[in-house]
Amino acid sequence: MANEAKLQVDGKDLALPIFSGTENEHAIDIANLRAQTGLVTLDPAFMNTASTTSAITFLDGEKGILRYRGIPIEELAEHSSFVETSYLLIYGHLPTRDELKTFSTLLTRHSLIHEDMKRFFDGYPGTAHPMAILSAMVCSLSSFYPESIDAMNVAERDITITRLLSKVRTIAAYAYKKSVGQPFVYPQNHLSYCANFLNMMFSVPAEPYEMNEELVKVMNLLLILHADHEQNCSTSTVRLVGSAQTNLFASIAAGICGLWGPLHGGANQEVVEMLAMIHKDGGDVAKFVGLAKDKKSGFRLMGFGHRVYKNFDPRAKIIKGAADRVLKILNIDDPMLEIAKKLEEVALRDEYFIERKLYPNVDFYSGIIYRAMGFPSSMFTVLFALGRLPGWIAHWKEMIESPTTKIGRPRQIYTGPTLNHYVALDQRK
Ligand code: CMC
Repeated sequence: MANEAKLQVDGKDLALPIFSGTENEHAIDIANLRAQTGLVTLDPAFMNTASTTSAITFLDGEKGILRYRGIPIEELAEHSSFVETSYLLIYGHLPTRDELKTFSTLLTRHSLIHEDMKRFFDGYPGTAHPMAILSAMVCSLSSFYPESIDAMNVAERDITITRLLSKVRTIAAYAYKKSVGQPFVYPQNHLSYCANFLNMMFSVPAEPYEMNEELVKVMNLLLILHADHEQNCSTSTVRLVGSAQTNLFASIAAGICGLWGPLHGGANQEVVEMLAMIHKDGGDVAKFVGLAKDKKSGFRLMGFGHRVYKNFDPRAKIIKGAADRVLKILNIDDPMLEIAKKLEEVALRDEYFIERKLYPNVDFYSGIIYRAMGFPSSMFTVLFALGRLPGWIAHWKEMIESPTTKIGRPRQIYTGPTLNHYVALDQRK
């Protein structure tokens, strides 16, 4: 690849440097374009814009490749735990035995939330969506740890990261308990990260909770698969908010809000609701594939399509296999899984989906597993947030620690009225 690109504007030749990443990706560096020509670039929805360089996650959507810090997602899914993968994403390397032990111990020790914070939950209606509670509570953590508000305070950074990673499970489980009117269950230090979360979610004081180690493994797997996905909507939000030197808790709360939307993390809830609707309607998947193709219907196949993957989503492949396993372990015969498989089969044979390269994404099968594990659909996006948290943290840390970071501030091309003058109220028509 050449090291510069030529651009001609108004008869003037301009050389723009080409930046190359470690995986043969190349970008034209336009940082000085406006200074040299008075022009900016226009790229709504960032269809063709790299907003940053990053050393965290590599994704090749044409080949279906996803790697965290160079390690293929398939290897992490098979061998790693969520805590280890979180360390890898945040600190850049697989932890040694000692590093992992220290990190796990810190996560165990910081799981309690302040007792005063528990009372916040009383103010929400029982019908409150847990994503609304999660984003507000994560931002509220900054009020309990004022020393973390200075994002540039290096001495506080690691402890803030640990607190957030640990407490988010407790907040998520409490949001669920609030919605079903059950008492909060405190974290238990003898349990692993995922087992602790399952215990806080599903145990009740009336009877002992039997931990199913297979489900703990599945929980680890699902969180690992969601742990990072480079510059998606929520991660870009975290980076943009954080670029104003906004503290970690507030930056992540903004990311949680970005994730909530149905085109992003909210899709996992929408998928199961869509499958239930198809089931209720008699299970005619071809009818719904037809509807999804009809632009006037306003209906999309949720869990299908991706801005970057144009071949297959490697996470969806792994999750599909896990869905079969989990339903077998739990001895559940869920008609939603059959409908999902039929839907995938019909869509993947359809010219509309083939032409547009629309494949099942990470959200297509995950909800079926969550449902089998006993999570209500309103919690699905919260589970996505738990998984994505180390990725958001890693990106915030990478951004805040880079000496070249400046506040994110896109430009625009104004299309409104030209100069106009104020008219007094009694003279307006
Ligand atoms: N069902 C039917 N048609 C679709 C779908 C779908 N799920 N997704 C895309 N299309 C069509 C779209 O109408 C457009 O057609 P045309 O070229 O005729 O106008 C074409 O495919 C390209 O779609 P787009 O909306 O321009 O693509 P995008 O990159 O802007 O959007 C997407 C990507 C994921 C938002 C979109 O595929 C979608 O809405 N999918 C359903 C929601 C979903 O599953 N979201 C989860 C994404 S993966 C997890 C995550 O990152 O959160």
